Amino acid sequence: MMRTQLLARQPELRTERLRLTQLGPDHFEAANVGLDDDDEGRKLTGTHARFTEDQIRDWLAKLPGAPDRADWAIVRTDDEKVIGEVVLNDLDVDNQSMNYRISLYGSTFYGQGYGTEAGRAVINFGLGVLGLHRISLGVYAFNPRAQASYAKLGFVLEGRHRDALYWDGEWHDELIMSVLATDPRPA
Ligand SMILES: CC(C)(COP(=O)(O)OP(=O)(O)OC[C@H]1O[C@@H](n2cnc3c(N)ncnc32)[C@H](O)[C@@H]1OP(=O)(O)O)[C@@H](O)C(=O)NCCC(=O)NCCS
Repeated sequence: MMRTQLLARQPELRTERLRLTQLGPDHFEAANVGLDDDDEGRKLTGTHARFTEDQIRDWLAKLPGAPDRADWAIVRTDDEKVIGEVVLNDLDVDNQSMNYRISLYGSTFYGQGYGTEAGRAVINFGLGVLGLHRISLGVYAFNPRAQASYAKLGFVLEGRHRDALYWDGEWHDELIMSVLATDPRPA
């Protein structure tokens, strides 16, 4: 049974080094850097649009209470630094599925296991607590770090959107991965 009523007030999730808490206006400074100033991150997430500060503030204000998605700020408990965001969105109630996305706010945070640690908590919440059957995601072919992290979470490659991203004059494929509630999940 799905418990989608949990989405409007999704619980805080805790891991060994992280606290995942409702993303919102309080996280403007970190999100602004993450969304706008980070060129590597923009390419890795295929973000063509440039957002104004007002657009980012408006967006963050809409997230708390949203009934069809869950956006968490990833906070490192050591120093209370907001190091990224992780999201379940595109709720499809009839088919018991959502989409997953994650972005750490800058390359200084990459490669230290934070993304996989945050993802594990969110996937366990989505499949185990919310009661989703399927969580899927898109990841660009040029992003082996993210693919490796997702594979560790139990995501399986299921297809490829050819030439889905046009970036700096080149076409790139987007890989589609998913994890089902019935899949074996790595511990
Ligand atoms: C993708 C992201 C969330 C992953 O989180 P992370 O904390 O950096 O990743 P982790 O350290 O948990 O794990 C990365 C794994 O990829 C592996 N890896 C890194 N570079 C790699 C490469 N070039 N090829 C293959 N594997 C690679 C690492 O070795 C690690 O595996 P290991 O722990 O077995 O050694 C994070 O890097 C990020 O936010 N990147 C920018 C935005 C982005 O790419 N978002 C995803 C869009 S789909």
